[in-house]
Amino acid sequence: KRILVLISGSGSNLQAILDHCASGKIAGEVVGVISNKADAYGLVRAKEAGVATSILAQQQFASREEYDAALLALMADYQPDLVVLAGFMRILSGDLVRHFAGRMINIHPSLLPKYQGLHTHQRAIDAGDSEHGASVHFVTEELDGGPVILQARVPIFEGDSADEVAARVQAQEHNIYPLVVRWFCEGRLQMVDGAVQLDGALL
Ligand code: GRF
Repeated sequence: KRILVLISGSGSNLQAILDHCASGKIAGEVVGVISNKADAYGLVRAKEAGVATSILAQQQFASREEYDAALLALMADYQPDLVVLAGFMRILSGDLVRHFAGRMINIHPSLLPKYQGLHTHQRAIDAGDSEHGASVHFVTEELDGGPVILQARVPIFEGDSADEVAARVQAQEHNIYPLVVRWFCEGRLQMVDGAVQLDGALL
C-alpha cells in the first residue's frame, strides 16, 4: 500500500511508521511526506529514509480554499492508498476530507471525545483527570470528531507537568499509530457508514 504522511513538526510519529515499514511490520511504503512548514524536522527524517518530500506553505495562498485545492492536487500526485495525518496542524476543508473519506486517519493527543482541539495535556491536568491518552481516528468533516479506531491510556500523576504528560502520551502514540497503519495496509480496517470495522466486525 502507498502511504502519504502529512506533518508540520518533529515527525516522531512519522518516524515510528517509517521504522515499522522498514522492519516489514507494515505491508506498505511511505511514498511521500508533505509539510506545511519548511523547517519541520520530520522532513529531515523523510530524507534520511529516502522518502520524497514536498513543502506547501500557506503564505503562498490567499485563502483556505486555494491552499486546500493545491494540497489536494499535490496529494493526488502521490496516488496514496492511505493518508496519515501526523501532527499536521491545519484544519482541512470539507472537499479534501470527503475526497479521502475512509482513507485518511489522524492521531489526536487525548482520549476522544474528550479534549478536542489544542492544549489537551494541560486541559486534562487542569480538570484533575487521573487518566489521559491518545486516539487514532478516521478523519471526517467534524474536527477531531471522526470514529475512533484505537486508543492508548496513560496515567496522570500528582504534580505532573504538561511536558511530562505529553512525553508519556507520545511514547504510546508511537505504538498505536503504526499498529493502525498496519491493520489498514492488511485490508483489515474500514470506515462503513461512519463507523469503524476491523476484520469485518464493528468496533
Ligand atoms: C502528536 O502528539 C499528535 O498527537 C499531535 O501532534 C503531535 C505530533 O508529534 N496531533 P510528531 O510530529 O509526530 O512528533
